[in-house]
Amino acid sequence: MLILGIETSCDETAAAIVEDGVKVLSNVVVSQIDIFAEYGGVIPEVAARNHLEVMMPVVNKALSDAKKTWDEIDAIAVTHTPGLLGSLLIGTLTARTLAILHKKPLYAVHHLKSHIYANWLEKEEMPEFPLLSLVVSGGHTQILRMDAHESFEIIGTTRDDAVGECFDKVAKILGLPYPGGPAISKAGKTGDKNRYKLPKPNVEGLDFSFSGLKTAVLRSVQSELGLPISHPSYDLKNHLDSRQIADFSASFEKTAVDYLLEKLEKAYFLYPNTKSFVFAGGVSANELLRLSAKERFKNVFFPEIKYSGDNGAMVAAAAYFEIKNGVEPTNPYKLNIIPRSEIR
Ligand code: KG4
Ligand code: ZN
Repeated sequence: MLILGIETSCDETAAAIVEDGVKVLSNVVVSQIDIFAEYGGVIPEVAARNHLEVMMPVVNKALSDAKKTWDEIDAIAVTHTPGLLGSLLIGTLTARTLAILHKKPLYAVHHLKSHIYANWLEKEEMPEFPLLSLVVSGGHTQILRMDAHESFEIIGTTRDDAVGECFDKVAKILGLPYPGGPAISKAGKTGDKNRYKLPKPNVEGLDFSFSGLKTAVLRSVQSELGLPISHPSYDLKNHLDSRQIADFSASFEKTAVDYLLEKLEKAYFLYPNTKSFVFAGGVSANELLRLSAKERFKNVFFPEIKYSGDNGAMVAAAAYFEIKNGVEPTNPYKLNIIPRSEIR
């Protein structure tokens, strides 16, 4: 079964053709990172306009890279929630129109579910149920339990910022570019992870909080520089030297990764019959997270780096498992975008 997956929830315009949910025949991603790097974040209006410009060329390239024609495509899958409204609108309108035009069933897929299913792409071994999934992206930080395909239980979630958002905001304080995750990892490579003591947020149970950690970095930078807490965050980067930036990056990255894995360990304690640990979302590209997770847990799954960020292949994979498990297609005339919703 061949599925065309379309993803436009944030600042990547992406389309892919995937065979039987696991074999990627093409994967086209046009990123707007270069546009937003200088702003330190995504401007929704600008993102939507750029999606509009490249959407159809991206879909056509996915078909031609896979050497497939519309006749050979069995279904279309698209991200419909959560994400930026304008961005979601471009992807869903494109998918709806193509589904009507080419008479293909349409599947509206939850973005976080897609990130989880990136772990089924191009793998020799697949995750086994029951599994625990740590979903770490720019918009979400959650621990989910899955007993089977289509069975999702959110057992922990952030009460404020997402971990990716925290990486992005800390990068901004340190004068590093957007997206902050890769920039902090790179800057922290030569840094001393023990130089700055950053407190892990104290939230009971399996929930997370990241806004406190971001503020802890801010206060620690102000105090390191001998500046008052009223000193504006945007100016701090002008006073930091490269050693301080490296050490702050390494200290923050270690604290964030330890915190994530401590919560996952707590979840494992509550669900000891867990067979696999599945990492998902943009932050799952983080090298320290990958290494530390493999030290702490067995049967750890990470998506291939190219499928850890937003892409169309993971959307097609998630739709394939929906189809296999009896989920009905969506009416293309009625599909709505939803800014935020739980995985159904
Ligand atoms: O999943 P994603 O591509 O988009 C959302 O659905 O949000 O995640 C983007 C987030 C950004 O916050 C980015 O800084 C973070 O993933 N990220 C990383 C790394 N690569 C991307 N965070 C830490 N380490 C990385 N290597
Ligand atoms: Zn994402």
